[in-house]
Amino acid sequence: MSILIKNIKELLQVRENNVTLVKGADMKTLPTLKNAYVLIEHDTIVEYGSMADLGEIEAETIIDATGKIVLPTWCDSHTHLVYAGNREQEFVDRINGLSYEEIANRGGGILNSAAKLQNMDEDELYNISAERLINVMKQGTGAIEIKSGYGLTVEAELKMLRVIKRLKQEFPIKVRATFLGAHAFPKQYKEQPDSYIDLIVNEMIPLVSRERLADFIDVFCEKGYFSLEQTARILEAGKAHGLTPKIHVNQFNAFGGVALGVKHQALSVDHLEIMTDEDVEVLKNSNTMPVGLPACSYFISIPYTPARQIIDAGLPFALATDYNPGTSPTGNMNVVVSAGCIKMKMTPEEAINAATINGAYAMGISNMYGSICRGKKANLMITKPISSYNYLPYAFGDNLIDQVIINGSII
Ligand code: NIG
Ligand code: FE
Repeated sequence: MSILIKNIKELLQVRENNVTLVKGADMKTLPTLKNAYVLIEHDTIVEYGSMADLGEIEAETIIDATGKIVLPTWCDSHTHLVYAGNREQEFVDRINGLSYEEIANRGGGILNSAAKLQNMDEDELYNISAERLINVMKQGTGAIEIKSGYGLTVEAELKMLRVIKRLKQEFPIKVRATFLGAHAFPKQYKEQPDSYIDLIVNEMIPLVSRERLADFIDVFCEKGYFSLEQTARILEAGKAHGLTPKIHVNQFNAFGGVALGVKHQALSVDHLEIMTDEDVEVLKNSNTMPVGLPACSYFISIPYTPARQIIDAGLPFALATDYNPGTSPTGNMNVVVSAGCIKMKMTPEEAINAATINGAYAMGISNMYGSICRGKKANLMITKPISSYNYLPYAFGDNLIDQVIINGSII
């Protein structure tokens, strides 16, 4: 199978293969080739260049991209795409004045999703999740991280992770799995929270690791959820079983979670809506990617992650959807890129870097995904004819993606 995409108006994010993330002022540049072509063989980008240099090339499929822009598919490094049901009643409750915290305290929130998921049959959970995955692929996502965390029992957490594994096997999209048993305390552990940490550390993590069901370990480190000490214990146990930390921190309160993540060499620290100067400082000289989730800020009306402050401090920054039924019921990265520009004052170049190469870094796969590079996976999207790439975030809510190629397959 070979595909030649020719007459590309602008080919975005063309980078050498040693570039695995971009940071600080470099995020303002988006290396672009005008009037270009790309050649794909099987699942790999084998060649690209200027149309003037295109010799006689045989290809089974030829796509004429006149007037169109081609860029790498989105790399969505933070989702909870496997879940059992929507929570639109909580949406209405919030409109009527309740906060996310008040809804959770009434037994809504994560525990509401866990009850639904525990009662759902594994095949049904797979089918509704597969539908969501197909949808985001059509919207241009070519690599995705998916978390557990709506199970909260040994059995239901494993069910979620098996569904993620099945999605990974059945679809061309690159899937990375995260074990998030520490998403909330089940009701029966409210009075003895450390027994739930014992269950995670002594039973869940060893099982997840033995069955190779996850790449990453995550914790919702937040007041009313998991403390710094509890988070540290879980990250240590995860690391001892080969899982890399990627954590939820600073969504509502800043109390040292970012420093804890850095101390444990977290690949990413996600949310960061509430940031102190110390949090920004501690990320310098670390290999940890800060990740913002603007669809969550938009949906539950909380502050936006201070992307400007983070990038202007010389740091890298990634954008992801946080696709989940409670705080971000969308997996649409196009909307997230727009929100990064509109609400976080990122330039289109910064937002596209944040949603491609830096998102790939936050999943540990930027050696193979996130840029146009010979030898990298053939994950590309072709826009409708548009005036410039600035139009992508500008025309928020419009579907400007014409064709998506993932792992060399046209979706
Ligand atoms: O990333 N903050 C924690 N977890 C999810 C929301 C979970 C839920 O409300 O179902 C998030 O926003
Ligand atoms: Fe999340």
